Amino acid sequence: MEKLVSSWFNDRPLPQSYIFPPETRPGNHTIPGCNSIPVVDLSKASGHDRTTIVQQILIASREFGFFQVVNHGVSENLVNDTMNVFKEFFELSAEDKAGVYSEDPKRPCRLYTSSPNYDRENVHLWRDNLRHPCHPLEECIKIWPQKPTRYRYYNPALIHDCSSPFLLLSFLSYDLYRETVAAYSIEAKKLGLRILELISEGLGLSSGFFGDDLSESVILSVNHYPPCPDPSLTLGVPKHCDPNLLTILHQGDIYGLQVFKDGEWIGVEPMHNAFVVNIGLQLQIISNNMLKSAEHRAVTNSKVARTTAAFFISPVDDCIIEPVKSLVNTDESPAYRAFSYKEVMEPAKSLVTATDPPLRRAFQFKEYVDKLY
Ligand code: OGA
Ligand code: NI
Repeated sequence: MEKLVSSWFNDRPLPQSYIFPPETRPGNHTIPGCNSIPVVDLSKASGHDRTTIVQQILIASREFGFFQVVNHGVSENLVNDTMNVFKEFFELSAEDKAGVYSEDPKRPCRLYTSSPNYDRENVHLWRDNLRHPCHPLEECIKIWPQKPTRYRYYNPALIHDCSSPFLLLSFLSYDLYRETVAAYSIEAKKLGLRILELISEGLGLSSGFFGDDLSESVILSVNHYPPCPDPSLTLGVPKHCDPNLLTILHQGDIYGLQVFKDGEWIGVEPMHNAFVVNIGLQLQIISNNMLKSAEHRAVTNSKVARTTAAFFISPVDDCIIEPVKSLVNTDESPAYRAFSYKEVMEPAKSLVTATDPPLRRAFQFKEYVDKLY
């Protein structure tokens, strides 16, 4: 628990172990948030503009690997409540968080810091992370954090004769985290499937192509980046591409996400009530490199804590991943051979837990997949 950045960041200058090598640190050259990442208005996808929206998504996925969606149909109140619950989780007392904290990467629901490779990494990341599966919901919810909880509004006249105040409190409190995040994960999954459906249309694939096995597994990863004494020297998350199918990120209203495009970093400006969507490595493979899984990173800032929620939509372990035949030119061979998601993730995981420094981990993973063919 004492390793969590949020446990000690107030008391110390930036420790040496958080300083990235000069070639990977953000440096003093600040990259402002900008609006070049395409913004897609999803409300238009249900009307006669659907083809235009499909094209916008396809072009954004090909050129940037990233886009933002607005008018996405997820209630603004639900998103705000969820982001507030995540912030509240990180503000819980050390005692309350201790039950969720674990240094065992095999534990499905856990609070930890930096990467799963903390003890062996050369540089630590300036972030704490809460991560858990969301599918199947009825099973997963039982292992999610129980706190924060809340008390329901009650009418004292109805319960005046309850004999024990403790009994009374247990009746009135409910699992705020679990209830809110469950509702959010249902909506985020729906949104993800809607976007995947638009992508399948754009690629000329059958309706529901990305449903079922390719998108069944869902992991929620909540990043918490406390204010940092020197953002030029460290990173919240180093350059990586997401190894899953599709990521739906809510980055709150604090800037910090940057995408690597054409050899340069572009800042992703936080937009009111928008989600950031990015193409995962599996979608790049399935599309035979037509869509791009872009590398990105999270920088820190010295003023305010930043909390973001990444919803990773992934294939189930046994799912076979391969480039779709219709997207491979007849006179060329596919860019990747077929493999099961487990086959590619397992060695990648053991690379992570063996000797790879986290800095190069995701990058090597990408090269590893390229070599699979
Ligand atoms: C991630 C990620 C970016 C952010 O969690 O994979 O890229 O802004 N996060 O938190
Ligand atoms: Ni990412």
